[in-house]
Amino acid sequence: MTGAGKRLVVLISGRGSNLQAIIEANRQGRLRADLAAVISNNSGAAGLRYARDAGIPAEVIDHRAFSTREAFDDALQQAIDRHRPDLVVLAGFMRILGRRFIDHYVGRMINIHPSLLPRFTGLNTHRRAIEAGAREHGATVHFVTHDVDGGPHIIQARVPVLPDDTPESLAQRVLEQEHRIFPLAISWFCQNRLSLHNGKVLLDRAIRPEQGLSG
Ligand code: GRF
Repeated sequence: MTGAGKRLVVLISGRGSNLQAIIEANRQGRLRADLAAVISNNSGAAGLRYARDAGIPAEVIDHRAFSTREAFDDALQQAIDRHRPDLVVLAGFMRILGRRFIDHYVGRMINIHPSLLPRFTGLNTHRRAIEAGAREHGATVHFVTHDVDGGPHIIQARVPVLPDDTPESLAQRVLEQEHRIFPLAISWFCQNRLSLHNGKVLLDRAIRPEQGLSG
């Protein structure tokens, strides 16, 4: 989109609000990235529309068309690599990825998860946080490694859990923070300030502590 910046490929499965935040940050010049492609495993993903409206090539690789996880991963990898990305961004991509795929993108694939990892990996994090009586909840951007939702943290954002919160109201408050910290983390990568070295996150050449961060 903008020419000389880092090339990003964004993977989505659904709503695409994080994709929208990334597109908007780039439009405002905060990323200076080249949004090379958006790829979804789901042809019904609303986010595909945002991509197309922004003039970003949007593709669907439907996981249901493949008989094995490996075959899907291979097709996805080929589709991604055609765009020669510097960074692969998982923005609400709801498929578990295989070891070979993850190894191929180590240090150049990041994810956002709606919890203060390592708490509440997996699904339904907002409901589980309320049920557990958590006083704080939030979101984590992390590099993707073999541990699902377990890779080294780049940034977290915290929100209070309020007495009358429902999973929906809490999700909404967390989502606002996601839309802030995900483009921020991507901007660091685009500015060559962020990398993964020997399993540690480096920001401006300093090792990022794993917990207790707030954006
Ligand atoms: C977000 O809550 C994100 O943290 C999680 O999936 C959701 C995707 O939302 N991984 P959207 O598609 O970006 O609106």
